Amino acid sequence: MPAPAQSSTTAAGQLFIFDHPEPLWEAAADQIAQTIRRQQGRATLGLATGSTPRALYRILARHHQEGGLSFQNVSTYNLDEYYPISPLDPNSYRLYMHQHLFSKIDIPPNRAHVLDGTVPESAVEAHCAEFERWIEHDGGLDLQLLGIGRNGHIGFNEPSNLPPDQAAALPTRKMPLHPVTRADAARDFGGNEAHVPAFALTLGTRAILSARAILILATGPSKAEAVAKAIQGPVSSQVPASFLHTVAPKVTWMIDRAAAQALR
Ligand code: F6R
Repeated sequence: MPAPAQSSTTAAGQLFIFDHPEPLWEAAADQIAQTIRRQQGRATLGLATGSTPRALYRILARHHQEGGLSFQNVSTYNLDEYYPISPLDPNSYRLYMHQHLFSKIDIPPNRAHVLDGTVPESAVEAHCAEFERWIEHDGGLDLQLLGIGRNGHIGFNEPSNLPPDQAAALPTRKMPLHPVTRADAARDFGGNEAHVPAFALTLGTRAILSARAILILATGPSKAEAVAKAIQGPVSSQVPASFLHTVAPKVTWMIDRAAAQALR
């Protein structure tokens, strides 16, 4: 893996700080490729969307096209999807995954799972429970890839006032999006927050924290506060990424200098 400028063990997991994002993407892609190879190609991966993993997916596609990395026997489960949303909508995470990864690798379509933003309201709970059962049936997640929201969310598990043990054990479910999340998503919806869906389906904290390894990425100064609170603050439902403290031995943080600037 490209060497980070700094590495340390923190209360929230192993922390790698890179001077620039490019080697960070390479290192993250290496960890995913290694997970797949270690499992003889049969890995089950939890994937994220958003601006953070775009470059990483480009590199993973290169690992496939030039390095012979096969996804034929890999299963993927995405963290979240807006609700309601059609998979044909340019802002759906289903389309994002198709454009940035699935169409560029050899993953069979029936192994690439994204929560369905078209299920009727009455079927949401059953669909979310089924998604978790599919993951279990696939042997559980070998690696969960995460970004972090400016408000400290992971997936769309938003800040709450629940007791931390409850907030860290939430099931996959429909969630109202936090105002900060909607403001940040507005850039994808023509700059208009009113066009951002009010809800999303999200993998719950319970399933995320159950993954056998967790790789969380953050770049840029806008993430610095959330990163510092998650890594150096107390475990708090106000900062869902702080739940990573509870599973620290299996967590890897890869962040750039800008995202590290609020760490003490
Ligand atoms: C996306 C997801 C979110 C994002 C987070 C950061 O699937 O689950 O938690 O990882 O909102 O988003 P970006 O990368 O756009 O800053």
